[in-house]
Amino acid sequence: MSPLPAPDPAALEYSAKTAALISREIESAGGWIPFSRFMELALYAPGLGYYSAGMHKFGAAGDFVTAPEISALFGQTLAQQAAQVLRLTDGNILEIGPGSGRLAFDLLLELEQLGQLPERYFLLEVSADLRQRQQHLLARFAPRVEWLDRLPASFSGLIIGNEVLDAMPVHLVAWGADSLFERGVSMEDGQFCWSERKLVAGELFDSAASLAPAKVGEGVNYVSEIGLAARGFVATLAGLLEKGAILMLDYGFGQNEYYHPQRSSGTLMCHYRHHAHDDPFYLPGLQDITSHVDFSAIAEAGVRHGLKLLGYTSQAHFLINSGITGLLARASPEQASAYLPLAAQAQKLLNPAEMGELFKVIALGKGVDTPLLGFARGDKSHML
Ligand SMILES: C[S@@+](CC[C@H](N)C(=O)[O-])C[C@H]1O[C@@H](n2cnc3c(N)ncnc32)[C@H](O)[C@@H]1O
Repeated sequence: MSPLPAPDPAALEYSAKTAALISREIESAGGWIPFSRFMELALYAPGLGYYSAGMHKFGAAGDFVTAPEISALFGQTLAQQAAQVLRLTDGNILEIGPGSGRLAFDLLLELEQLGQLPERYFLLEVSADLRQRQQHLLARFAPRVEWLDRLPASFSGLIIGNEVLDAMPVHLVAWGADSLFERGVSMEDGQFCWSERKLVAGELFDSAASLAPAKVGEGVNYVSEIGLAARGFVATLAGLLEKGAILMLDYGFGQNEYYHPQRSSGTLMCHYRHHAHDDPFYLPGLQDITSHVDFSAIAEAGVRHGLKLLGYTSQAHFLINSGITGLLARASPEQASAYLPLAAQAQKLLNPAEMGELFKVIALGKGVDTPLLGFARGDKSHML
């Protein structure tokens, strides 16, 4: 790994506390925990996890930049799709993991201009610090915006999540020559280390056995992730959605590409101050840990729990179908200082070499039969 920026002493102390919490859990579990539990604690342990505590995370001063932070065009374009769903359902919006609140802000502002504001915009946020930032940014829309501590029992309208599924804990599985193993975490000389256990039965075993991507040489392990938490989350959303659509935007692919024989070490990735690397044991609590989304599994979980697949496409297709070029044209090319930055931002969102192709959008719904605007052209549902 190339040298990463050094954290300050306060951050180091905070990370040491997170590491101590995880190592105590490993000890009390008999010396081994599944990687999914490690990831859950490193990201979400109350007061200590990366997302539950008060670190910077988003934007130029944080660890990574997400689409809503790149450009207001992202939220404005999503608003066109949101307006259609709101018209069809007469419902509200629920955003999961709203980050800085930027997407909510741009969406609401555009919906206001369209005369299509929902009665309520709910935000489900696990971090007290982020909730405060969101409240500050969205003050203009009070009392329409409402924060939730947990998912509601029922909901109609649009549920939206940008880069949420990739942040959910994943299990790691190693497909050996003739056995399956779960990769977990143990301690050695006071440090976290990888350790595998034979996988024999249960949901993870069934799921891994059905994938069987180990088309690699004998004795060589094929390691990848299985996102049971993300599937479970979609199943929960399916149970509470009465009428409407769930729109999830994230990086990932369908199963064929995800478990391609050549992707033999999976997609697990860590982000620390704009450096991407693959060591999840580095400074727990200070860095983001993510994996790509298996959109086939997400679609399957939704459909199995009563949702209809309404569309699946690349971010570029989705944004173009939803009118991003028209929104960009609202700025005049003659006013270069306003137009050029916007054009560069649109390019980042759409360019296949940047976010346009790796990022996908999936829509699952209930009681919505009209084709959704964002999937009018370039739908890739057949690739799931
Ligand atoms: C990578 S951040 C994305 C933030 C924001 N949507 C954006 O695009 O900038 C992932 C967010 O998902 C949230 N998240 C993950 N699992 C969640 C869950 N089960 N319920 C609610 N939020 C969750 C995290 O807390 C975090 O805020």
